[in-house]
Amino acid sequence: MEQPKPTRLIVGITGATGTIFGVRLLQLLHGSGVETHLVLSNWGARTLVHETSYSVKEVQQLATKTYSIGEQGAAISSGSFVTMGMVVAPCSMRTVAAIAHGLGDNLIHRAADVVLKERRKLVLVARESPLSEIHLENLLKLARMGVVILPPVPAFYNSPQNLDDIVNHIAMRVIDQFDIHLDVMNRWDGVMLDQKRSQSDVS
Ligand SMILES: Cc1cc2nc3c(=O)[nH]c(=O)nc-3n(C[C@H](O)[C@H](O)[C@H](O)COP(=O)(O)O)c2cc1C
Repeated sequence: MEQPKPTRLIVGITGATGTIFGVRLLQLLHGSGVETHLVLSNWGARTLVHETSYSVKEVQQLATKTYSIGEQGAAISSGSFVTMGMVVAPCSMRTVAAIAHGLGDNLIHRAADVVLKERRKLVLVARESPLSEIHLENLLKLARMGVVILPPVPAFYNSPQNLDDIVNHIAMRVIDQFDIHLDVMNRWDGVMLDQKRSQSDVS
């Protein structure tokens, strides 16, 4: 008998700058029908409190289920717990290195390792600048395994008016990777702004 597609998504938030990207993903998915399974690393939690107005508890409440970073016995530690995959947003270079080398010494690393071995989708909102050879080699290794490396680089073609627009656009593009399409920001429609202006001048 055919099983319905899983609607569980594992979300990791690690200690790179840009913890708001992880928060925004959870906000967009809250109430969408997708079950979110959240793990914050220790430095993810520290960075979140440093750079946003959200508490760890408030962010955890956005998720369907939360786990502590040392909870290696959690459901998401096993491939038999079926998910559509995992996103780490933001993803530090430490976590990139741990995933690229198959370390399972915290629950984010272990859950990512499981997603890889099960050939499910892994999206890393990898954030560092500039990037060293070590970072680039680790990212390339993962990309060659099919991992989506999606750095939180802003787009300007959709005329963002503020930081919120930029964060929304990146979060939307991350969610797109899982075939969930929430139109929270303008998408590129192939029409340049000068063409739009001249069209509205004519009409
Ligand atoms: C405010 C702040 C910003 C940071 N930004 C980055 C970053 O953008 N990228 C990165 O790789 N590490 C960054 N770090 C360092 C990581 O937090 C550190 O390497 C940590 O050990 C990562 O562990 P984790 O991946 O388990 O969260 C930052 C640390 C702090 C305190």
